[in-house]
Amino acid sequence: MAVGIFDSGLGGLTVLDAVRTRLPDVPFVYMADNAHAPYGVRDADDIYGLTCAAVRRLWDEGCDLVVLACNTASAAALRRMQESFVPSDKRVLGVLVPMIEALTERQWGDNSPPREVAVKHVALFATPATVSSRAFQRELAFRAIGVDVEGQACGGVVDAIEEGDMILAEALVRSHVDALRRKMPEPQAAILGCTHYPLMQDAFQAALGADVTVYSQANLVADSLADYLERHPNMAGEGGEAKFLTTGDPRRVSDRATQFLKRGIRFDAA
Ligand code: DGL
Repeated sequence: MAVGIFDSGLGGLTVLDAVRTRLPDVPFVYMADNAHAPYGVRDADDIYGLTCAAVRRLWDEGCDLVVLACNTASAAALRRMQESFVPSDKRVLGVLVPMIEALTERQWGDNSPPREVAVKHVALFATPATVSSRAFQRELAFRAIGVDVEGQACGGVVDAIEEGDMILAEALVRSHVDALRRKMPEPQAAILGCTHYPLMQDAFQAALGADVTVYSQANLVADSLADYLERHPNMAGEGGEAKFLTTGDPRRVSDRATQFLKRGIRFDAA
């Protein structure tokens, strides 16, 4: 059995690490579309086409279940994929809903009407494509009422992280937090709505201050995947070997991944 994990680049490794810790017996095939990253500045059709191609590649590896460890693909492409691309014997899951369930204090499958929740002012930090899709607000409206969400499109942060320029990434985080505060001076919670951003979590927390709760996805997605596999054990596909695939330059991508996760990782060409 193997499960596919997809991201446009290296950000999904933050999710991969959490799911590997939570599900140590499951082999994961990680697929990074580095040749086309970042996705966050692309339009929805483009993101849809690229994500379908990457998911098809993971199906070829025997991964019947694929997690889009990418908010941009989850926000801009997942619904259309589920409606018109994914056959009945395969599944593609996203990362937005586990985050929203945590924020709205819901268990999986709780389909009761939207209700008031503790948090009222939420800052959403995400890529331009995720913010403009408004998918986060749509999913939230199914579950909660009276929550004010202010989206901040964090242009440039994914590029800086992919380039390994953490000094630039930190400076951009500070300036995006300043921009958010001009629109919403006192957020109670901040959502890191891009899987690259946990790599900058300390910078977000420092810029936001200790009284803002920062929600990061990796552990929430890991719990939700464990729960899904318990309910659908047959969805772990036939693939048996853990591996890392990239559409980019395998050597360069391996070096960056090793730098981020502080352990040796070897990517092969997809
Ligand atoms: N990690 C992706 C996300 O969660 C990155 C997006 C990008 O490639 O711009 O949105």
